[in-house]
Amino acid sequence: MQIISTKQELTNQLAVCVRQNKTIGFVPTMGALHQGHASLVRRACEDNDVCVVSVFVNPTQFNNKEDLLKYPRNIQKDAELLADLGVHFVFAPTPEEMYSQEEMEQEFAFDFAGLDQVMEGKMRPGHFNGVVQVVSRLFDLVQPTRAYFGEKDFQQLAIIHHMVERSSMAGRFGDLKIIDCPIVREKNGLAMSSRNERLSEDERETAVAISRTLFASLEWAKMATVKEVQQRVIDTINAVDGLEVEYYDIVDKNTLQPTDKWENAVGCITVYCGPVRLIDNIRY
Ligand code: PAF
Repeated sequence: MQIISTKQELTNQLAVCVRQNKTIGFVPTMGALHQGHASLVRRACEDNDVCVVSVFVNPTQFNNKEDLLKYPRNIQKDAELLADLGVHFVFAPTPEEMYSQEEMEQEFAFDFAGLDQVMEGKMRPGHFNGVVQVVSRLFDLVQPTRAYFGEKDFQQLAIIHHMVERSSMAGRFGDLKIIDCPIVREKNGLAMSSRNERLSEDERETAVAISRTLFASLEWAKMATVKEVQQRVIDTINAVDGLEVEYYDIVDKNTLQPTDKWENAVGCITVYCGPVRLIDNIRY
């Protein structure tokens, strides 16, 4: 496995793979890797001749400086896991390698057709601009055949699909396919996340109430309206000491707009467990 830190070296190495007609699987990450990432990487290695993983804590997608500073980083441990999984190239650039000073300071503009006006986009203004900025730049550099994303970040995945569809119409990214991968959970149901590293043992136990309530809501949905289930999920989680729901929206899986029908409905939640912001979702 090679660890590469410059764009030039990455494109040089991958040009050789392209000349040999090799398919390239790509998994973009912000490091602090866990078994959720490992499941994406395993798929990328299985489906493609070459597997590339980026490890880059992207500053332009953080609208909260403290969150950026506290984001867990451990490139040594990440590299060991990726080598064991059979990855060929790890791209781990510095922010200066990825962006000019101007790009770091100016917000990247993109038309999300309203997909960014709800949930995470509403709570974290500018977040998805930063995500699309870095992901589109990484796609330009890696030119992957397939790119793998987890369904835990449901809104992010919808936005990436939208961005790729729009870019493909303009002839960018070739025949790139976005592969949606299921949420990976701890045995107790907690959705795996790099942010879980910031939870104490007790907080991890407390946080289990999030997925437990979402699963219970599948039963509630059989006999109640969307509004009733939405409120019951919020009340149940808020009743747990140490948890506070930021939002629980039940939305149409395609438009991400709030829905009052169970057809195509996805419940997306963000909960504070102490200072740690956790997200999860469930399909009804
Ligand atoms: O999901 C993430 O870890 C990040 O948003 C991504 C896609 C790697 C872009 O920085």
